[in-house]
Amino acid sequence: MTVLTTIEDLSVAFRQGTSSVTALDGINLTIKNGEQLAIIGESGSGKSTLALTLAGLLPASARQTGTIDWPGGPPIPGRDIGMVFQDPSASLDPVLTIGEQVAEGAVAHLGLGWKAAGLRARDLLARVQLPDPDSLLRAYPHQLSGGQRQRVAIAAAIAAGPRLLIADEATSALDTIVQAEIVTLLRSLVAEEGMTLLFITHDIALASSLADRIAVFRQAKLVEIGAAADITRQPREPYTASLLGAHIDLTTPPLVGARA
Ligand SMILES: Nc1ncnc2c1ncn2[C@@H]1O[C@H](COP(=O)(O)OP(=O)(O)O)[C@@H](O)[C@H]1O
Ligand SMILES: [Mg+2]
Repeated sequence: MTVLTTIEDLSVAFRQGTSSVTALDGINLTIKNGEQLAIIGESGSGKSTLALTLAGLLPASARQTGTIDWPGGPPIPGRDIGMVFQDPSASLDPVLTIGEQVAEGAVAHLGLGWKAAGLRARDLLARVQLPDPDSLLRAYPHQLSGGQRQRVAIAAAIAAGPRLLIADEATSALDTIVQAEIVTLLRSLVAEEGMTLLFITHDIALASSLADRIAVFRQAKLVEIGAAADITRQPREPYTASLLGAHIDLTTPPLVGARA
């Protein structure tokens, strides 16, 4: 596999008044073209900061050191990296039609006119398996369910044909069935489009069901990375084992007949 990006000794700190918060601390990570890489870790471990750094979206209060090398050339913001967040309402504009928001990326980055972009938007809505794309083009976000809105956000994120799709807790607010549907959709989309997927989640089971590799973040550091199967079967770090343990405790049904 060829390399999408090589991150070397990346640190990011946010200024807060006179002090600063270290969000990423000496991260070394190579992301390969076409892989599905999950980033897991507890809240505040630096996952979203990594996503924003890669997308070039860090706020002015952030200080970034280290290097991020893109062998295929630096990504153009909004075109080469698509992002999907936990709350689709945050990425969808309530006063624009679904068609306008999905077409927008194609207009801005592919040089399409609105008519051609509208046709592309309709195709994209079909690709994310939304029913009746033609009437959806004229609908507004509030007319859709949460799962449908997340599908629209995914369609908008891939409208300009990004090399990298970053899903930051994109399924965390959805119920389990819709979550599984969105994961299936992401998996087939990245395979069909040949995109690289960075799947950020606090859920290790979800990560292992989707990803080729898992990188474990804790307190701004990358503490462990490896094949998803190895990480979940034989974690080297006690912290990873504790994430697995916590998940098993929560999800494993009690033994039949085992009563307290
Ligand atoms: N814009 C910001 N200003 C100040 N601190 C921030 C900002 N964004 C994130 N942080 C801090 O950086 C750390 C990592 O945050 P984040 O990357 O959002 O973690 P995660 O996505 O894993 O929950 C946290 O301590 C968080 O409070
Ligand atoms: Mg986050």
